Amino acid sequence: MPTISPIGRSTPRVDGPLKVSGRAQYASDFHFPGTLYAVPVEATIASGRLVKLDTAAAQKMPGVRAILHRDNIGQIFRSVQGPGFEGIVDERRPPFEDDVVRYYGQYIALAVADTFECAKAAADAVRATYAKDKHNVDPDLQADDEPDVVATTFAPTKRVQSERGDAGSAFANAPVKLDQIYVTPTETHNPIELQATTAIWDDSMLTIYEESQGVFNLQGVLAQMFGLPKENVRVVTRFVGSGFGSKLWPWTHCALAVAAARQLRKPVKLVISRKMMFQTVGHRPRTQQRVRLGATTEGKLVSLQHDYVNHHSMLDNYHEDCGEATAFHYSVPNLRVTFGRARRNVGSPTPMRGPGAVPGLYATESAMNELADQLKIDPVRLRVLNEPKIDESLGIPFSSRHLLECFELGAEKFGWSKRTPEIGSMKRDGLTLGWGMAGCAWIAARFPAEANVQLRDDGTARVASGTQDIGTGTYTVLAQLASEKTGVPLDKIEVALGDTSLPEGPTSGGSMVTGSMVPAVFEAADKAIESLLTIATSGPGSPFQKRKPTDLAFEGGRVFVKADGPAGGVPFADVLRRANVRLVTGSGKSEATFGNPKPKFSTHSFGGHFVEVTWQPEIARLRVSRVVTVIDAGRILNPLAGRNQIEGAVVMGIGMALFEHTSYDRQSGAPINSNLADYVVAVNADVPPIDVHFVDFPDKEINALGARGIGEIGLAGIAAAITAAVHHATGVRVRELPVKIEHLLG
Ligand code: MOS
Repeated sequence: MPTISPIGRSTPRVDGPLKVSGRAQYASDFHFPGTLYAVPVEATIASGRLVKLDTAAAQKMPGVRAILHRDNIGQIFRSVQGPGFEGIVDERRPPFEDDVVRYYGQYIALAVADTFECAKAAADAVRATYAKDKHNVDPDLQADDEPDVVATTFAPTKRVQSERGDAGSAFANAPVKLDQIYVTPTETHNPIELQATTAIWDDSMLTIYEESQGVFNLQGVLAQMFGLPKENVRVVTRFVGSGFGSKLWPWTHCALAVAAARQLRKPVKLVISRKMMFQTVGHRPRTQQRVRLGATTEGKLVSLQHDYVNHHSMLDNYHEDCGEATAFHYSVPNLRVTFGRARRNVGSPTPMRGPGAVPGLYATESAMNELADQLKIDPVRLRVLNEPKIDESLGIPFSSRHLLECFELGAEKFGWSKRTPEIGSMKRDGLTLGWGMAGCAWIAARFPAEANVQLRDDGTARVASGTQDIGTGTYTVLAQLASEKTGVPLDKIEVALGDTSLPEGPTSGGSMVTGSMVPAVFEAADKAIESLLTIATSGPGSPFQKRKPTDLAFEGGRVFVKADGPAGGVPFADVLRRANVRLVTGSGKSEATFGNPKPKFSTHSFGGHFVEVTWQPEIARLRVSRVVTVIDAGRILNPLAGRNQIEGAVVMGIGMALFEHTSYDRQSGAPINSNLADYVVAVNADVPPIDVHFVDFPDKEINALGARGIGEIGLAGIAAAITAAVHHATGVRVRELPVKIEHLLG
């Protein structure tokens, strides 16, 4: 039995052996007898109407079971949003609902065959005739005419997001002004695991194997789309090969697989292609953000205005919340944050790692860096000058904010004090160096969560919750939490996740799973122990027969009489065996703090990035050569997995700053670089040493352990730090991502 707490210890993934040995089953790894394969047919226009679908040749191909389309697929109902976190979908229109094509790649038919190859050949043989309209994929985003309150994926939202003082006149009268527009491109999530559904009907019971970041939301949506009671739908997601947000909410291919399985009475498997990953399962939308800062000559902010626009699809209401951190991040008496949107012929955007805050902080942190240069003061110093004491947007205290400690430690580890501010003034080994920095923030909150813990007569334990491990380490952290409370070593704990037949767990979104699970698992373990102590005092073979449960205690896996201390205790497995009880079980539940309209505290994680780039003007070679990132995310439960999350986010940030960019072809409206050769992401060769630190101040407002989330924050702010470093090295200010060599050759 461990005597050292597993909390806060670097713990390798408990599911690692399953993954490296190939035994971890991802959605498309489940095979069932008689499975048919489905391949969707993609629209090749971005706007218009489907006039005719010629399926004759496809239907006659060997092995083809059906070519399904609007006239023969059967009814697929519309889902609606429910209270709380139910029924969330970014693309609400059921597939094939009408003949209108609103974006390139929209599904217009589905080929189903005995093998994937037959289905693919048949899908390719379907001929579509269109009445084409003019599409709009214009990258210049001007806000559409919309009312002051608009629908979004979640709830009606005011377009004036936050306002205090009089930002306009304070700006007009400010001695120092900055007014710039920052642009972030469409970015596409590229998890290695393609999205996939395997659907099986057994009478009126539907089972889905899917790589979902939220099995319960998917269950609810499918129940509505197929007219079933929720309990007739089971969603299973054992492993996810990353999602980054693209697998949060249901997409249309899933409903197509379910409808095909219903009609053909066989299991149907549908794995979308990498190209489809760019078309039909979301993306981070393009944003255009105007930032206006007014300051005193000493660098105190007097006005901050952030007005931004994101593109969205023709039917849905996605809002990229670039103002997520703007209103509380700095102390400023006059502030106004507004948003608008522009409809384009694109598939619906969806959250991508750090939605809103990541493009938003790129803009506002870039503006702060430019202001620092304008004032000729150090960018860290400018931030210290404008550090708020409370959340000025809500007028409430922060639960725990240690941003300045992050800057202090980061500056020290990086050697920031050696920076000379003049452009191109720093050299090493014949290379020009650029040094830049930025801060970051990301929301911290809890979703509702339920868990179950069992203690078993062989000394093992089981912890179960219908949440998901999207590659972030949820299996491991749940084992750590259960081990902490039960004293059972990690290798004797079974963790069950990713199944709607388990207690309802949170969606793997918003970096909220760990923080949400702590209270639920702890309560479940306490209840299981309570039950154990009752058995210990009542079982015929028990050494504690004459005692009351309140006389007993449980610690490190042993039951003992409080008065006697743990030395005279008995392992819980013995207690269970003597009583002939296989297991005791307890359930725990915790409430949401997310969406609380009257919070007492403003709860966020914070951090700082320090970046070095090297620049060789002779051959126009730019590299990120060094990154130091310090994060304030409360208590870190597993520093190994935690560091891994921040490193991954920094790698993605290098991609965001220098490479990633989905291009829509003006001719066809298609995302044209829809493959991993042309959509460039940061790879090993682009990644320098990344030095990650945590300041580790427990935040007791979020849960008993003080642990906030870490999945997304590392990507916030990093692009602003990189572009500042690029400016420091080259003198070129790039305000439209990604930084391209063309920008630097000017
Ligand atoms: Mo994250 S974008 O909430 O999966």
